[in-house]
Amino acid sequence: MIARACSDDAEEILSIINTSNRESYKKIMPKEHFREPVLSLEKLLEDFESMTFRVHRNQGTIAGVAALETESEETGRIHWVYILPEYQRQGIGTALVTHLERKAAEMGLRRLRLLTVEKACWAVNFYKRLGYSLTEKIERPWGFDVFMTKELELPQRDAARDHSLEASSE
Ligand SMILES: CC(C)(COP(=O)(O)OP(=O)(O)OC[C@H]1O[C@@H](n2cnc3c(N)ncnc32)[C@H](O)[C@@H]1OP(=O)(O)O)[C@@H](O)C(=O)NCCC(=O)NCCS
Repeated sequence: MIARACSDDAEEILSIINTSNRESYKKIMPKEHFREPVLSLEKLLEDFESMTFRVHRNQGTIAGVAALETESEETGRIHWVYILPEYQRQGIGTALVTHLERKAAEMGLRRLRLLTVEKACWAVNFYKRLGYSLTEKIERPWGFDVFMTKELELPQRDAARDHSLEASSE
């Protein structure tokens, strides 16, 4: 079940992000560039103020998290998509990101983007499967970071309104 995250969830979310990051990225990041923990409680609480966080609860336990930031009138950014290792490959990441995409479209955003690591082939595959394409590569000491972007579909009611506007201008 997807739910809003509240500040009481902060410690659990922090542990999920740091555990999942360690399990996944330790093997691909050179030691000198690997940040452990990747996130502090202070930074997470700051992000709580500026982003929309959603969690996936599985019988009371949080199995995964994802966040949406509004970057401009038209563009949003997806952050902190982390699923606990034992809950991966069960569709939870897809459910969380799809939920945030719907929310973003309802807020009037037209596109979403995110930053990931090129060598994290699981993440690149995951986002490609969701319709994101690689739009920018940034050279880093550990290889490349990549921006991936997706144009959002208009929410149903906007699509209907735009259609009637098009029809009336013909
Ligand atoms: C990337 C991540 C969020 C995916 O979440 P998930 O819940 O496991 O993904 P889903 O079950 O919704 O997977 C959907 C599709 O994505 C792709 N995918 C997901 N994990 C994959 C993996 N390890 N390897 C290759 N493809 C993968 C597959 O196409 C998958 O469909 P399939 O299972 O039918 O083959 C999760 O693996 C994770 O938390 N990884 C560690 C943190 C991370 O890298 N986050 C992204 C930061 S930018």
